[in-house]
Amino acid sequence: MYKAILADKDTWWVGVNDYETDLFESLWPLPQGVAYNAYLVLGSTAAAAIDTVKGPYLDEYINKLTEALGGRTLNYLVVNHMEPDHAGLISQLRAKWPGLKFIGNAKTVPMLKGYHGIEENIIAMKDGDTLDLGGHVLRFATVPMLHWPESMVTFDTTTGVLFSNDSFGGFGAHEGGIFDDQKNPARWEDEMLRYYACIVAKYSNIVQAALKKLGGLPITKIFPSHGTLFREDVKKVISLYDKWSKFEGEKGAVVVYGSMYGNTRRMAEAVCTGLAEAGVKDIRLYDASRTDPSYILRDIWKFRAFALLSCTYNTQLYPSMEAICSKLLNRMPKNKLVGVAGSYSWSKGALTALQDYAAKSKLEVVGPAVEVYASPTDEDLKQCCELGVNLGEALA
Ligand SMILES: Cc1cc2nc3c(=O)[nH]c(=O)nc-3n(C[C@H](O)[C@H](O)[C@H](O)COP(=O)(O)O)c2cc1C
Ligand SMILES: [Fe+2]
Ligand SMILES: [Fe+2]
Repeated sequence: MYKAILADKDTWWVGVNDYETDLFESLWPLPQGVAYNAYLVLGSTAAAAIDTVKGPYLDEYINKLTEALGGRTLNYLVVNHMEPDHAGLISQLRAKWPGLKFIGNAKTVPMLKGYHGIEENIIAMKDGDTLDLGGHVLRFATVPMLHWPESMVTFDTTTGVLFSNDSFGGFGAHEGGIFDDQKNPARWEDEMLRYYACIVAKYSNIVQAALKKLGGLPITKIFPSHGTLFREDVKKVISLYDKWSKFEGEKGAVVVYGSMYGNTRRMAEAVCTGLAEAGVKDIRLYDASRTDPSYILRDIWKFRAFALLSCTYNTQLYPSMEAICSKLLNRMPKNKLVGVAGSYSWSKGALTALQDYAAKSKLEVVGPAVEVYASPTDEDLKQCCELGVNLGEALA
């Protein structure tokens, strides 16, 4: 993987694997690393790089790009997205190839100036505009707010490759192969969904619009800027994106709790017992303090029901549950069932805060909403179990 890889006709993968960044966007853990995929399309009359990689990988990227160029000059850099994990090396490319032209759109222009001081040699494309590289005609489509305002995708009308940038991307570095036909889907699908839930999910309605907009193009391959390149089963990844952006969850439930001394955890376990009694087989029980929120968000996207349980802490939600609720409110999943329960010893607070969240979420709330004083009694646990049964039956 230290050499450029021929990914399609005249199309080179010149990306890099990053095993050293612990947190993507200084937020999301990367236990399997992450790949920044960048590309080079060599037409007969011009060469175009599609995106670059993150700053620290300058040497590896330039070596691969130079190798793939085979002595030719670089004429264009297509800037699908200005986030620095892809646009990090724009200034360095301009220093190496001073005649380089930058392909973006109207919203890319101020960002090129703001991040790199670049005001010249910029071509702002409009939807459907094309660039002829000689034997390869690139066509551009803007996808504003997927997930930045200047985001766009590039379609090679000759090969049928869609360079989709962050859309269809996933966490996880490449391990050996870079293509879907070289990897077990079990290895990339979860990390693709975790990427979706963390980075893209807030813009799910825009994903739906983009799928319709791109639906008319004869796409045969999708090469994103993170994770697996899809050339064998493009329909499958498009249908995954369709499903996730329509909030179509599988039959299963996520139970998330915040608990210091185990009382709220016992309540959560009783909810799980009820779910199992109702025949639900996919149950994920998470301690919000010990599981990174990205995994909890991923599974809330994957399944159709979830329950939130929290002890009261300084009159409010327990902090790790507060973090989950605010992330959910930011992304607003739809089409899910939610149940809530709280515990307290004097003022109360957690259950009301969870009910507030549930009301703001506009999701269908399944009862009973259980509130427990100190240690749950048998009757309290029976109610929690009933909440699980009701969630499970509502899923059926
Ligand atoms: C630091 C701290 C702050 C708390 N703040 C409140 C509070 O403001 N109001 C309240 O009713 N209970 C409060 N509690 C009590 C807990 O909500 C209660 O003990 C609950 O049963 C803990 O559940 P757990 O065993 O799942 O941690 C607090 C407990 C601790 C340790
Ligand atoms: Fe991005
Ligand atoms: Fe990215």
